[in-house]
Amino acid sequence: MSGRPALTWRSALQKRRYSRGMELVEERLTAVATAYPGALGEACRATLAAGGKRVRPLLTLLCARRDAALSEPVLRGATAIELLHMATLVHDDVLDRAELRRGRPTIAHAYGVETAVSAGNYLLARAFQELVGAGDPAAVDVLSATAVGLSEGEVLQRDDAHRVTVTQAEYELRCERKTADLFAAACRLGAMLSGAAEQAAALSEYGRLIGLAFQVFDDILDCSGDEASTGKRLGADVRDGTVTLPLIFALEVHPELATLLSSKVQSAADVVTVLRTVAGSGALARARGVALGYIEGARRVLAACPDFVERDLLVEVAAQVVDRYS
Ligand code: IPE
Ligand code: IPE
Ligand code: MG
Ligand code: MG
Repeated sequence: MSGRPALTWRSALQKRRYSRGMELVEERLTAVATAYPGALGEACRATLAAGGKRVRPLLTLLCARRDAALSEPVLRGATAIELLHMATLVHDDVLDRAELRRGRPTIAHAYGVETAVSAGNYLLARAFQELVGAGDPAAVDVLSATAVGLSEGEVLQRDDAHRVTVTQAEYELRCERKTADLFAAACRLGAMLSGAAEQAAALSEYGRLIGLAFQVFDDILDCSGDEASTGKRLGADVRDGTVTLPLIFALEVHPELATLLSSKVQSAADVVTVLRTVAGSGALARARGVALGYIEGARRVLAACPDFVERDLLVEVAAQVVDRYS
């Protein structure tokens, strides 16, 4: 599975710059993952080798001032963002009891919960270590606030599990904390660490909006995606009681879904019934409309940004956030 953004390069120099930048980030990630021995190191290497779209570090590079996109502080910022992301995925799969991630068994599933908790902690700690080397305490503050928000988002999700009265506003707040703030931080760090601090607020808002769209689309894929493409099991949210936007919309049309969604024990047939009902309710198209609204907002924010960031490429990334795997 890939799903990495496909960008239209405007020049050979541009292609070289960002391809090289992503290679350098990958080298830094590999160095972190190979630095630790034993089961913990093996688990980290497995999660790294499984791939992932690397969309967040790409955003950091694209939001940097062009001539500083490959500078060490920016590369450190991009690497730190992906390490924090990887840490949250490893922990999220413990909380969500997920079996498949990036097309492979999750760390919790393959190595056990203890190793998954330790591996997530290790990746989190290394994220901060990576960023400290960029020499900007304000950047460390951004990462720290984001990590705190991510924990808050996960707690909100646990507290709301199987609660069918979750509103769209509550759902959005949860998505902001658990997903959009990390996208915002990826963009903000690109600007901050490349000497473009005056663009940090606008680019962060662009990141927040595409992050919200990204999560809504992820939740649509949970109902209707192709497991071979997403690398995750279909219906994982239904199984663990996460009431997402497609489910909120489907409940409006089919209130009787509440019984199945609020039940803590569901058979495989129940999950199929829920997914079929959601697909037939118009909820997926409606949720996609919400995601597209966020993307439109992100494009408006970008239009006001100066030319020294990669505006055209950022528009392409935004569009692909709601079209990945299609
Ligand atoms: C998964 O993020 C977590 C969500 C915010 C939905 P990605 O879909 O970016 O995961 P990888 O890195 O590509 O595996
Ligand atoms: C995504 O939540 C946000 C995280 C903190 C990982 P999900 O639970 O929807 O992510 P996936 O679907 O497991 O990737
Ligand atoms: Mg999950
Ligand atoms: Mg999901």
